[in-house]
Amino acid sequence: QINNHLFKYKNYNFIKDLTTAKAIDLLQSFEVRDSDIYLVTYLKSGTIWAQQIIISICELDGGPTEYLNNSEQMPWLEYKIHDADYSLRVSPRLFASHLTPVLMPPGVKDQKAKVIYVMRNPKDNIISYYHFSCGNSNMKTPESFDGFLEDYLNGNVPGSSWFDHIREWHLNKDQYNILFLTYEDMILDLKAAVTKICSFLGKNLSEEAIKQVVEKSTFKTMKKDPKANYEFIPKEIFSGTFMRKGQIGDWKNSFTVAQSERVDKMLQEKLGDLSLKFIWE
Ligand code: PPS
Repeated sequence: QINNHLFKYKNYNFIKDLTTAKAIDLLQSFEVRDSDIYLVTYLKSGTIWAQQIIISICELDGGPTEYLNNSEQMPWLEYKIHDADYSLRVSPRLFASHLTPVLMPPGVKDQKAKVIYVMRNPKDNIISYYHFSCGNSNMKTPESFDGFLEDYLNGNVPGSSWFDHIREWHLNKDQYNILFLTYEDMILDLKAAVTKICSFLGKNLSEEAIKQVVEKSTFKTMKKDPKANYEFIPKEIFSGTFMRKGQIGDWKNSFTVAQSERVDKMLQEKLGDLSLKFIWE
């Protein structure tokens, strides 16, 4: 079945309603600052979580606090949802993105801007993405979980292939000033993840301030935080919830053994040479 919600540009699937080929091309001349911070993820890998952590760190470090919500404070580079001129923003500017290296503004590497790349184990990523696709007017509604899995594994979803995304960012990592983190690192020790992000960003926060960032970034706090929980997205566009379960291992409630083995096999084939370890239990 053809997915009418997508358009393919430069070998990457974009959501039709959120951007244009022209906007993506313009990123090639986007003026990057050394002080910019770019959060890069494949969809449903912990973006809004890391977003809340980075924003909280910058706010406690004296950065701007006047934005209505996290999406305005750290806009997606490739989505044209905020009618804002980013050149007028004070530093440090914060951006989120689901792009692959080749589509990113070239200045991100030349200018030594900071990149934080968060990845999540593919099985939980698939489940989170499946639920996100249901009740989302920007996406094709899955007919079944198996049908969605097929699309996901073939890269026929917004963001294209999870495997290619991980691979391309790892293969190009030496060109960037980049910190790799996993969703599971954040689940298993949030304070350690916050401390790591802080030191990568060169922010010298007190023990007390780190504690505040951790508190603001727990699942429970974020779910109630109207700036961070994405309930500001109109229900006609997305009727589900961004803050769904927030766990490791939810895939077990939906995957069959055969589906799980299929992902294991593909992981080995596509990323086996990169010696990455994914935690999913
Ligand atoms: S998006 O649409 O790409 O921006 O989505 P993204 O933010 O990358 O992924 C959403 C999943 O992240 C979970 N999440 C969290 N988990 C644990 N703790 C905190 N604080 C947290 N914040 C967001 C969210 O629940 C989604 O995962 P699932 O598995 O669907 O619950």
